[in-house]
Amino acid sequence: MTNTIAIGIQWGDEGKGKIVDLLAPKMDVVARFQGGPNAGHTLVIGDQKTVLNHIPSGILHANILSLIGNGTVVDPFRLVEELDMLIAAGIPVAERLRISDRCQLILPYHRALDAAREVAKGEAKIGTTGRGIGPCYEDKTARRGIRLVDLNADDLDARIDENLRYVNFMLVEFLGAEAVSKAAVVEALDLARERLLPLAADVPLILHENIKAGKNILYEGAQGSMLDVDHGTYPFVTSSNTVAGAALAGLGVGPEQVDEVLGICKAYTTRVGSGPFPTELYNADGMEDASGQHMAEKGQEFGATTGRPRRTGWFDAVVVQHAVRINGVTGLAITKLDVLDGLEEVKLCVGYEHHGRRLQSIPACAKALSECVPVYETLAGWSENTFGLTDVNKLPEAAKKLLQRIEEVCGSPVKMLSTGPDRDHICHL
Ligand code: IMP
Repeated sequence: MTNTIAIGIQWGDEGKGKIVDLLAPKMDVVARFQGGPNAGHTLVIGDQKTVLNHIPSGILHANILSLIGNGTVVDPFRLVEELDMLIAAGIPVAERLRISDRCQLILPYHRALDAAREVAKGEAKIGTTGRGIGPCYEDKTARRGIRLVDLNADDLDARIDENLRYVNFMLVEFLGAEAVSKAAVVEALDLARERLLPLAADVPLILHENIKAGKNILYEGAQGSMLDVDHGTYPFVTSSNTVAGAALAGLGVGPEQVDEVLGICKAYTTRVGSGPFPTELYNADGMEDASGQHMAEKGQEFGATTGRPRRTGWFDAVVVQHAVRINGVTGLAITKLDVLDGLEEVKLCVGYEHHGRRLQSIPACAKALSECVPVYETLAGWSENTFGLTDVNKLPEAAKKLLQRIEEVCGSPVKMLSTGPDRDHICHL
């Protein structure tokens, strides 16, 4: 039995979809524990590329049960779209998917608040995905959220009225935006009642039965550790805990159930949205650098959910070290190594300097982090093609050296190395 947590350990978009898809055939259950439609995991169904926002990447496999845990936030419109797309592709989702009855619902006013707040912040905006994630998690913590299980509650109508009084005051009086109608909220709730409630279940119970039966469970993270609301670059973060510990609270399992924590990261770094990024080289706002541009173009660095161009930069070992510590990472999966092919030299950030002082860990304050100057180790690049390699011994010496330094500096062994987008483009170490 192997119970594995697979999480992103940079700022999201590390290529988790592919790694989870590779691990899935060995699994009996794949479970999502946080986030919602801000995530976008790209999968290929037949010859069609699809992006899943809520549904675990295991859904395409016949013998895998997919679970959406209580720690996630669910948008009825988007989740139903995903269900319909899978049903149209012949996937029996009703057999393969269960959603925790404790899931919070993202309602039209959450999306309206997300958008209006970003507009109000102007230059200081977080650069959210606009999917209503933050306002939905706020309502959860404020204990006014509406969960799947609440859809048939006697007091539902009164709670909608009370929530609308509050959010419409915020939207209209405070943010100068338009009010949200009750009809729009009721439409979302009716859709959830009709299509999602039949899939609702006691997810912790299902998980425990599977664990008792010795089944293999994969806990699939979304976003990345640097976007964690506690451990990331606050306030430029998402509104959930994205770290490995969140898998437990977000699904209702105990720590003794977990055997491995796989930390997934790119061989370089990317970020979408605002916030500090010490090793940044290149972005769509005018920061120019040939190596950063090479990563953006060769790596096709555009957000899977929003299509926004990603910011790119060198591998930040300080970030990954931090992630190894806070997640208890037992091994690394490094993706997109092939994107570095053709660069004359490759840099690794091994520390920061802040106002002349050397730091070995990440400052908690975003402003301080934005003032940090990376301390680089420069390694030789390689001209050989690593695209699609499946044998680590065939890697150029310079690429082997980079991996060795990543392991040494980050303090975790590389277990998987992805060398291209296809399933077969992988080395197991
Ligand atoms: P939110 O999760 O939509 O509130 O966005 C908050 C921050 O997290 C923004 O910087 C987003 O760009 C970032 N973010 C959220 N989800 C993802 C993701 O799946 N990949 C990469 N960045 C994300």
